[in-house]
Amino acid sequence: MELSELDDPPGGTTGLATAPLSPATPPSPSEGDAPPSEALPAAIAALKKERNAIILAHYYQEGAIQDVADVIGDSLELARQAARTDADVIAFCGVHFMAETAKILNPEKIVVLPDMNAGCSLADACPAEEFAAFRAAHPDHYVISYINCSAAVKAQSDLICTSSNAVHLVRQVPQDRPILFAPDENLGRWVARTSGRDLTLWPGSCIVHETFSEEALLRLKLEHPEAEVIAHPECQPHLLELADFIGSTSRLLERAQSSSAPSFLVLTEPGILHQMRRKVPQKTFYPVPGVDGCSCNLCPYMRLNSLDKLWRCLRDLRPRVELDEEIRLRALAPMERMLAMSA
Ligand code: 13P
Ligand code: SF4
Repeated sequence: MELSELDDPPGGTTGLATAPLSPATPPSPSEGDAPPSEALPAAIAALKKERNAIILAHYYQEGAIQDVADVIGDSLELARQAARTDADVIAFCGVHFMAETAKILNPEKIVVLPDMNAGCSLADACPAEEFAAFRAAHPDHYVISYINCSAAVKAQSDLICTSSNAVHLVRQVPQDRPILFAPDENLGRWVARTSGRDLTLWPGSCIVHETFSEEALLRLKLEHPEAEVIAHPECQPHLLELADFIGSTSRLLERAQSSSAPSFLVLTEPGILHQMRRKVPQKTFYPVPGVDGCSCNLCPYMRLNSLDKLWRCLRDLRPRVELDEEIRLRALAPMERMLAMSA
């Protein structure tokens, strides 16, 4: 698709200030009623069949959830799968913006999220009203939003990107068109450096990727001089400078398989280690801790989901993601552009 074909977002920003982000049904009241943990995978498989459901899981989910998923992927792959599934129900084991993206692409399907409180600090850092004012201050800019944002922000964007395709998409914007990039400034800085384009950045960041300790990384490098440092581009620039390879979660997983290094120091949410250890069991993976050795490198939102909540949401078909139709339609256009342009 040529960029000259790309329109401004339909409807501008009018009405977004009052738009509900995610009018969700309340979580199921019945707790403590799930089968014992050893019986949950089979119970989930049975419910999945009964509901004609598909389970999509992000790499940051706990291993037990990844093990029952039909598809495990990064945000781009999961969006693609959501666009092509013929299941009636999508059980999205990830965070709210991911499940919302699935609903944007599938208004007729039931989309459930095991825990409706599974949000994202990046999405929270970019309220739709403030984003509308930012856009209005840069009226000539082409607006590219990272998929980690609400539907109401997507609805104000020309194009959506993920960390997998951001550089590829930015390179397709005509050189003379200034670009506004939101909401992750660390990703934005890396995309600007890699693509050679100047980007006007929204000042947001991920609380998980901001937390990695440079001191701990340097210590691990000394202890394991043979290890390759692999990092997600949401990390801060001084940590990315120490990385041998930078990429989205699926690129990091590919790198773990293709590199000749015997071990890796991993600068992203450690949920990804489950697949890394599975794909290349002969290699060693060290998660880089947060400052003071805290476990704050675990995403507190992703980790709200659990196997029993997944079972319950398949049983009850709630909590569901619901969207205002006008917002959905506005958000759909830049999503579809992304899928077409990154194909
Ligand atoms: P990916 O696009 O690499 O899956 O990253 C999503 C995310 O939330 C990173 O924090
Ligand atoms: Fe959001 Fe960061 Fe969690 Fe990813 S790791 S879902 S960007 S809070």
